[in-house]
Amino acid sequence: MRSALASVRAQSSKCGVYNHTAPGVNMQYIADKRAKLEPPTHDNTTGPVSSKHWDEEWSREDLQHSADHHAMNTWGPSRPLGSAILVDRAEGVYVYDKEGKQYLDWTSQAICSNLGHSVPPAVKEAINKQLDRVPMVYGGIGATEVRLRLANLMSEICPGDINGFVFPTGGGEANEAAIRMARRFTGKHKIFNQYRSYHGGTTSTLTATGDFRRWFAEQGATGFVKMFNSQPFGFTWGDNDEHKTSILLSMLEEQIRMEGPDTIAAIMLESIVGAGGVLVTPKGYMEGVRALCDKYNILLILDEVMVGFGRTGKTWGFQHFEGVIPDIITSAKGLSAAYMPIAVVGVRQKIKDFFMDTPMGWGATFANHPVAMACAYECVKHTLKHDLIANSAAFEPIMVEELSKIVERHSSVRQARAIGMFGCLDLVGSDANNLQEYQSPQSPKTQEFRKAMFANGLWGLFRPPLLHCAPPLVITEEELRDGFQRLDKALESLDH
Ligand SMILES: Cc1ncc(COP(=O)(O)O)c(C=O)c1O
Repeated sequence: MRSALASVRAQSSKCGVYNHTAPGVNMQYIADKRAKLEPPTHDNTTGPVSSKHWDEEWSREDLQHSADHHAMNTWGPSRPLGSAILVDRAEGVYVYDKEGKQYLDWTSQAICSNLGHSVPPAVKEAINKQLDRVPMVYGGIGATEVRLRLANLMSEICPGDINGFVFPTGGGEANEAAIRMARRFTGKHKIFNQYRSYHGGTTSTLTATGDFRRWFAEQGATGFVKMFNSQPFGFTWGDNDEHKTSILLSMLEEQIRMEGPDTIAAIMLESIVGAGGVLVTPKGYMEGVRALCDKYNILLILDEVMVGFGRTGKTWGFQHFEGVIPDIITSAKGLSAAYMPIAVVGVRQKIKDFFMDTPMGWGATFANHPVAMACAYECVKHTLKHDLIANSAAFEPIMVEELSKIVERHSSVRQARAIGMFGCLDLVGSDANNLQEYQSPQSPKTQEFRKAMFANGLWGLFRPPLLHCAPPLVITEEELRDGFQRLDKALESLDH
């Protein structure tokens, strides 16, 4: 059954369609920064390393030096690393910096630390036991008991005949494997994906992505076709779900026919768009996409990397949509509560059967890593044993209540939504447009707000104009309400 999407809206003047400015990544700036590499001046022998590597503690100066000169960031530039919060320890839903300042982890890091920052003893024990017993078996030449047990557990928590499982090391890698399998199974090449979705940082998955990060892939990979999604920034598909769904599905069918069904391997979607803003598709849409896939013999890949394992109040995000079962599912993050890097790809029986005598054509040294699988196995059991998925559903009304208060109180907030423990606010500037373009570097105003969040002891992923609210699933009601109070204070710096 589809759960009611708890959509929290302000008065109509603050709602509705809004315009946005042109994309803002400054390519010229990037070109100017490109420098020709000089030949290295050093010899190529490894020198003696410093004795400080055997010291228990490092001085602030040593740490700062390494942050400034050696460590690098990924999606963002590296300079801010030198002034980033230096996390010293973490406990429950809180992290603490070197000065002992406490921050509530408002987005479970990258919506992944579902069990918080205190590792359950059973998880620690499982990791240690695995390290003692069999720390590594390369999956291509042997099996481990934990691999077989985890695959079996996965078959029990996946609905329908999703029966075959492989365990890569991250969400992007899982999607890469899913794409490869879809192409090899169907013998077709094209993959349809939506704008505003994110699927990973490898070249294929970044080309599949529909947000600004895709631009980093430059030429990208071939065969990825973009579809519009149901929640565009600058216009609406209709006034109600029925109308929107009907237009969207007609458009998709037209696109399938024009691209040629015999060239399309899969439609690959996030079940519920996560980083793009907690976007739940209108009623009937996912069901309609499934039906189109069946009609045209196209696989449905659902990316559950962010929402799988309970974030939205159900085990899988797609369980909000009546009868929808993907042919291939990918997930990661919550699988191991992010204590270890591990992901999963699950496939339906017919695909599993196909690969019994045909190579998948994808692999990695660390795929099916025993220690990561031991961690994941115990984390999934912990989630089930402590009913954390039901908790996530039970907290939805509190999320909605608190988000409603935030929308009411702050002129800088246009609207909010939540499903389970997954919430998001849309921030608005004084000109009634988005606080800033989604795809642009942070403006001075958003940087000021980020500082206000830190000052109020709130820390998390922040991609303005979206502000996600997704603390660990183990949070208590008191901690959750306290988080919203911290947010309430921080937002004062943005109001106009
Ligand atoms: C929906 C979705 N798919 C894929 C990924 C990529 O996962 P990873 O960062 O583990 O490679 C993410 C990461 O945020 C995600 O949210």
